[in-house]
Amino acid sequence: MTPIVSRSHRLPMAIALVSLAALVLLGAGCGETVGYTEATGDKTNGKTLFTAKCGSCHTLADAGTAGAIGPNLDDAFAESRRNGLGESTFVQVVRDQIAYSIEETSTGAPGMPADIVTGQDAIDVSTYVASVAGTGKAPTPAPPQTTTTSVEPSGDVGDAAAGKVVFTNGCGGCHTLGDAGTTGAIGPNLDDRPPSSELVTERVTNGQGAMPSFSATLTAAQIADVSAYVSSAAGK
Ligand code: HEC
Ligand code: HEC
Repeated sequence: MTPIVSRSHRLPMAIALVSLAALVLLGAGCGETVGYTEATGDKTNGKTLFTAKCGSCHTLADAGTAGAIGPNLDDAFAESRRNGLGESTFVQVVRDQIAYSIEETSTGAPGMPADIVTGQDAIDVSTYVASVAGTGKAPTPAPPQTTTTSVEPSGDVGDAAAGKVVFTNGCGGCHTLGDAGTTGAIGPNLDDRPPSSELVTERVTNGQGAMPSFSATLTAAQIADVSAYVSSAAGK
């Protein structure tokens, strides 16, 4: 699968629009933004934002995220990187994707909301992703999230602490939950109507409407963990 290539025909138009936007900003006296396609963002801030706002849908080894709603970004960029495309091109591709994502897919599969991050934050995320996606490097020092993915099953009762990590990585992009600090707005706000553990297990296993099934991406133990976590944390 080479999604970057298949979508590349959209790029010239996106780049034209982006240049126009930069000119408008220049006219408004913000000339610095013209350096847009150069890798000038803050990678540390970009990584933090990526983990919080993108990782629930995208796998990216360096960030330790394992989202499976959108394309695996290591896979998406690996081939172009091998073919010698430069980092500044990747910054542009990611920045365009954030602004011109496909929100409504023709298949009814979940799309990617546009403008999840804007302004300098969007440049920071783009710079970060461009610098790490598809490099095949080992993840940089493990964020706390990645260490808990091999939690042992503990009978039918999940481990809420491990479930919080699953939630932040896999669910928070779509759901608001105060305890986890997530603000997703694609699915219901889980604090508004705290679900039972059984409802969480059912939805996560089978999906419904725009919510995908996680039965292929989460283990039974992780589903028990996230159910224990959400049912105990929602509405608090
Ligand atoms: C709610 C889920 C979701 C979130 C959150 C999300 N994405 Fe996506 N992303 C998708 C989907 C679905 C696609 C494929 C459809 C499309 O191209 O718009 C995609 C496509 C992409 C692509 C293109 C990959 C390719 O192979 O062409 C990039 C790059 C990308 N996303 C980066 C990001 C970044 C950076 C963020 C955070 C600012 C983010 N995404 C947040 C779901 C998401
Ligand atoms: C791509 C976005 C998306 C992701 C990712 C996602 N959900 Fe959902 N979720 C939804 C949507 C949309 C609904 C409403 C579905 C419906 O009833 O049609 C929903 C419904 C739910 C409900 C039922 C809420 C109610 O009051 O009816 C629960 C519980 C839930 N999700 C938990 C989770 C958990 C836990 C995860 C992570 C394992 C998760 N969701 C991941 C979009 C998402």
